[in-house]
Amino acid sequence: MSPENRLKEDYPWTQSPLIACAPMRLIALAPLAVEVSKAGGLGFIGAGNDVSMLEPELQKAQQLFAAAEHPLPDTLPIGVGVLNWGADLDATLALLRTYRPAALWLFAARKLSDLQAWTQGARDATAGATKVWIQVGSVADAVAVTLLCAPDVLVVQGQDAGGHGLERGAGIVSLVPEVHDALLAALGPEGEAEGKMPVLLAAGGISEGRGVAAALALGAAGVVMGTRYLASPEAEISRGYRDEVVRASDGGQTTVRSGVYDKLRGTIDWPPGYGGRGVINRSYHDAIGGMDHEENVRLYNEAMKSGDKGWGVEGRLTTYAGTGVGLVKGVKGAKEITQEVREDAKRVLKSLGSRL
Ligand SMILES: Cc1cc2nc3c(=O)[nH]c(=O)nc-3n(C[C@H](O)[C@H](O)[C@H](O)COP(=O)(O)O)c2cc1C
Repeated sequence: MSPENRLKEDYPWTQSPLIACAPMRLIALAPLAVEVSKAGGLGFIGAGNDVSMLEPELQKAQQLFAAAEHPLPDTLPIGVGVLNWGADLDATLALLRTYRPAALWLFAARKLSDLQAWTQGARDATAGATKVWIQVGSVADAVAVTLLCAPDVLVVQGQDAGGHGLERGAGIVSLVPEVHDALLAALGPEGEAEGKMPVLLAAGGISEGRGVAAALALGAAGVVMGTRYLASPEAEISRGYRDEVVRASDGGQTTVRSGVYDKLRGTIDWPPGYGGRGVINRSYHDAIGGMDHEENVRLYNEAMKSGDKGWGVEGRLTTYAGTGVGLVKGVKGAKEITQEVREDAKRVLKSLGSRL
């Protein structure tokens, strides 16, 4: 079965190419996830490392679908995402049993082998109804995780991605095709025939239809976007953060992946090798310039009190965003973003076909 048909079978409300919204921790909540899925994409609720916030969000999602009279398939047509280095397995499985979300997204385990219990647990909890998505950032991790867990979907995260990812990594232009070829080599042709080949989605730096079209050419069946959805009213962020995402451009120069923002915010439990990409601001310059860490934290905490003014190039509050931030030109509803990006991608692909 083609990856596109597998997606259609597993998530029957979705349209091709699949556009998914990343489970951005405490930013992608029920309103964003539901709007994306209502538009034929797949939205995720981002629980991060603490799943205690999930149950009310899942209940809200149920209510939002009911209010929209959206036909519910066998599962709740959204996913939930966790950061495996901190999330509680048993609590998550109990929620999967009760709410049956269509997908569980796993990321950043301390050891890849930890993901086996999560994958098996999710499959047992819902008799396979909840599909397992795993985000990886290297060819080696893609192969290892596929052999260990046989995920339904592998999200291949390139270096351009906003938020956390591997400090050392490649962009999707080389990463996605190399992952594809390495998986084929590892699984063999029988692997593909037996359905062991996960569906590949590309993430990192994709903010509009041209990026989606490129991702499909690289071997992905769809994409995951985070940064683009930050500029939607449904994203749970302050106006100052959203304004900064819309303002920033030239993301290769104006964003950086580092541990500076984690240290300032006290989110220091990430496994080694991960860093968060965000817009370069005063806090970052001061940290790199040698400012005493305690003083930088004090100024960060001061800035928290100033509200929306705390963001910006001369601000101190963190704007996690990817290099694709310059392609985000304004605020649009999550439904409109999903439909527009998908339709633009189709238009680009058609026009390329007619040019050859
Ligand atoms: C603000 C923000 C928060 C994020 N939080 C998470 C998270 O909690 N869990 C996760 O797996 N990925 C998280 N990501 C990374 C996404 O999964 C994805 O790889 C990324 O957004 C794709 O790149 P893009 O931002 O260029 O679209 C986050 C990304 C952003 C921008």
